[in-house]
Amino acid sequence: MIKELTYKKPGSTQETRLEKIHNVIFENSKSGSKAVAREIADLIKYKQSKKQKCILGLATGSSPITVYEELVNIHKREKLSFKNVITFNLDEYYPISSENTESYYTFMHQHLFDHVDINKENINIPRGDLKKNEIEKYCKSYESNIEKLGGIDFQLLGIGRTGHIGFNEPGSSINSITRLIKLDYLTREDASKAFGGIYNVPKTAITMGVSTILSAKRIVLLAWGENKKDVVYESIESSISQNITASFLQKHNNTTFVLDMGSSSRITRIDSPWLVDSNIDWDINSKTRAIAWLCNQTGKSLLRLSLRDYIQNHLSELAANQSTHDLNIEIFNRVQRTITGWPGGKPNSDDTYRPERAKPEKKRVIIFSPHPDDDVISMGGTFQRLVDQGHDVHVVYQTSGNIAVSNDSVLKFLEVYSDIFDVNDSHINDVKNKLINNNEIIEDKFIREVATKIREKEALAATRYVGLKDENVHFLRLPFYESGKIVKNKTSKHDSDLMSQIITKIKPHQIYAAGDLADPHGTHAVCIKLLFQSLKKLKKEKFMSNCWVWLYRGAWHEWEINEIDMAVPLSPQQVIKKRKSIFFHKSQNNSVMFQGDDKREFWERVEERNRDIAKQYRKLGMADYQAMETFRRYHF
Ligand code: F6R
Repeated sequence: MIKELTYKKPGSTQETRLEKIHNVIFENSKSGSKAVAREIADLIKYKQSKKQKCILGLATGSSPITVYEELVNIHKREKLSFKNVITFNLDEYYPISSENTESYYTFMHQHLFDHVDINKENINIPRGDLKKNEIEKYCKSYESNIEKLGGIDFQLLGIGRTGHIGFNEPGSSINSITRLIKLDYLTREDASKAFGGIYNVPKTAITMGVSTILSAKRIVLLAWGENKKDVVYESIESSISQNITASFLQKHNNTTFVLDMGSSSRITRIDSPWLVDSNIDWDINSKTRAIAWLCNQTGKSLLRLSLRDYIQNHLSELAANQSTHDLNIEIFNRVQRTITGWPGGKPNSDDTYRPERAKPEKKRVIIFSPHPDDDVISMGGTFQRLVDQGHDVHVVYQTSGNIAVSNDSVLKFLEVYSDIFDVNDSHINDVKNKLINNNEIIEDKFIREVATKIREKEALAATRYVGLKDENVHFLRLPFYESGKIVKNKTSKHDSDLMSQIITKIKPHQIYAAGDLADPHGTHAVCIKLLFQSLKKLKKEKFMSNCWVWLYRGAWHEWEINEIDMAVPLSPQQVIKKRKSIFFHKSQNNSVMFQGDDKREFWERVEERNRDIAKQYRKLGMADYQAMETFRRYHF
């Protein structure tokens, strides 16, 4: 059933009392997008029944893609016509030509306009090819064209990590109208992946203003994934501020934020519901979450929390059902029992309270790694322990990861090869010339193949270092990834068959995989979805009844304390060994290509993360470790 998007006054219930913008949370971006597409389709139909035009304000970026996909489906399935629709896009880079593959003009045609029956003259997208002196007049006419049509009926928005709506970067005024604006560095960094480097991203854009957006009759903002959780929280619960222009939407009385689990995870109702709600279902999960939070608030370890601490911090209801003494011990044991130095199970020991089974003593293990390096980055210490403890460990690299190899790295290998073997091949020379001083991703089969090989050999060097035989290392090269460009292909049966085949071949007792569930579009999310599909398909196979699945997190996020089912400690020596295994992935060191706003190298980020989680355990009163890797069990 599609969830109700109908606007409700925010803050009207006890649970939403800190919220100033109405919001609806969906299980994932797909179900949220479907609901939004349905609202748009219904509006178009309603306007048709009244013989009126339907004026839509549209957004680009990753967030609305599935909404457009769904609208195209509705157009085909239900014969929804777009003949009465007039669109105004929020923004366009400046300068940019409409033919540029990264222009919003191209984006809108690719994702929507080319697939529906909209009249071309009804499409309005700010022009990126104007002369500088034409811009002001053009922007005024953009505004007046909207006004002449009676304003926007429905405005679709995304939200940038700077909190921008449209390209209204921090500092934009509530009265701003359509204009040329300088893009924030963070916004340009987010776009750098698509443009093949930040230096190719235009520095300015033409955008509708905040005031233009606020005059729409209905506004729906989409936000997917954990990357957006801070700006979503600030917009909904903090005061209105020019620093987060989405917070101006608090002034609009028909705005709904459509969120998923990741983007909503900082809203108080979700993050610390006991602060706003008195009807909490106190299961072991919510208790662990609340008590870990309480330790943080009070600066006390778990076994030192008193009744007074509970009462003073809005947790009296929890303490009313169970003595705080029992509560503290219950949660202490739960957290403590996640810690193990035996990720494959401890042989000959009572495993009642251990995260893994003792038997079979020697397990067959698959570590799925979306790219060649996630294995060592995210679970290098655990990987090493599994090998050292004698398990039959296989690493399966799902994609080639060849897009993330810079042209410089490919060039270096070709030059070494040509010099050593005295090769003077015209094709290789052409390729070398293409690569010199070129930062853009080149769609060329040969270049991508060299890049694939570079990553495969780096991965082999790392797995040999950990102690694995080469025959235990598998490169799936899933076809969805092999588009030769940033935007990947759709997954097909071929992808899921490759996944199922390798699982069937190895018949593992343990599977480790990257559980980046919140990231809606990234490769990690596609890879985990493919694994889940295979698990579902293979569920009835006898060998699967003995298989446990453990999810690690990627380079960016960590599990919350209550989500952790296994925590594997790392000694200082193990941390250094892990670091070395990451270093084998040389093409990924000093690579700024996909780093986003975090300038640290992968090994630095992950070391800090592993150290932080050990610190959190210590603060709860657990033993004091140098670092930890954490896992969540997935029951299929
Ligand atoms: C796009 C736009 C921007 C994006 C925002 C989020 O037309 O105006 O405000 O909505 O930058 O981008 P994604 O969806 O790519 O995270």
